[in-house]
Amino acid sequence: MKTLLALAGCALAIAAAGCGERQDRDVLRFLEQADNGGGWAEIIRRFEEDHPGVRVELVEGPPATDAREALYSTSFLSGDRTYDLVFMDVIWVPKFAAQGWLMPLDDRFPPERREEFLPGDIAGSIYQQRIYRVPMRSDAGLLFYRSDIVENPPETFDELSAACRLHQSPPELWGFAFQGRQYEGLVCAFLEVLWGHGGDVLDSNGRVILDSPEAVAALRWLAGAVGTIAPPAVATYQEEESRYAFQEGRAIFLRNWPYVWSKAQESGSPIRGKVGIVPMVHLPGREAAATLGGWGFGIAAGCRNPDLAWRFIEFATGEEGMKILNRMNGSIPARRSLYSDSEIVASHPHYPELFEALLRARPRPVHPRYAAISSAIQVHVSSALVGRETPEQALDRAAEEIRSVLGTSR
Ligand code: GLC
Repeated sequence: MKTLLALAGCALAIAAAGCGERQDRDVLRFLEQADNGGGWAEIIRRFEEDHPGVRVELVEGPPATDAREALYSTSFLSGDRTYDLVFMDVIWVPKFAAQGWLMPLDDRFPPERREEFLPGDIAGSIYQQRIYRVPMRSDAGLLFYRSDIVENPPETFDELSAACRLHQSPPELWGFAFQGRQYEGLVCAFLEVLWGHGGDVLDSNGRVILDSPEAVAALRWLAGAVGTIAPPAVATYQEEESRYAFQEGRAIFLRNWPYVWSKAQESGSPIRGKVGIVPMVHLPGREAAATLGGWGFGIAAGCRNPDLAWRFIEFATGEEGMKILNRMNGSIPARRSLYSDSEIVASHPHYPELFEALLRARPRPVHPRYAAISSAIQVHVSSALVGRETPEQALDRAAEEIRSVLGTSR
């Protein structure tokens, strides 16, 4: 019994020690969301097969990007060297780079190789002229709709509201689902409504304009949607909850990321063959806008074996790796060539149009303190959705908080 306890204590100590205490230079570890589809397991299996003795560990974290950012940040702040690779959301790059948590990759990833990737994903991987991330998955917000219910998809906010009212029969069938929970996904959804109203968070001089009349109109529309065309529970939805509502036939329209298409087409999906995709709606005379998302690999500053880490990155972000993740997990490739790849286009006929949407997608404010900017938006937009603040109050407060984060005045 004593030996068993001692052994258990030892295992715990090894687990707690993480990368820093590891004797083994042949282990690579990174944090990602659950491997929904098995694509990561397959990429890792193939890499390990070609590299005998090497082990790659995917640590499964929570689904929300903010929660995984916090886990990486805690690990880097404590210096425990748990992670060798950093699988990063595009919005984390300025902060992680400014903190010195990442190795610059300029020598390994020179400009001529970057051209093989989508330009927005590359731009989002650079901080102060140095590159820190190799894109793996691209992302841009889209509006999905039930093509068996809606004949002409809407282009404006009024048309979307009208189509919802015409076809919905709550509580079984609602009009519009989106990500309304207080987290990063809400910021992405809100920005598309904000941009579609002609508003923005910052103007071209970096001044905060989140309390503009355009922004108030945008939040009025989104808050007004809750309980009228969107289910009240939308205020608790992340990506997957909103996808379930759509895929189970409980919502006609869905704002989400392109991965939804593959899931909706899976055998057994009740909406297979009944899904259309258009850009998010906008005000007449304004333009539709998609939030740029996306994920890619960096190497942690404390990584012991950067050459091995780089070999894994090259494999995972190569054509083969991206095709595996696309086929099995529905991830959107970050390499241009795959948008005209015959195998991929055969199973994703909408990819040529998706490619255009990805080229037009707009970045969220690029700043090392983006997390604080986002948090102000999350708290107050969420309050407005549940009626705790009016849209005016919510945006006045969010704008003031962002001004104080940035140290700017009105
Ligand atoms: C997607 C996007 C990411 C975004 C997140 C918000 O994962 O790729 O950029 O931050 O959704 O939930």
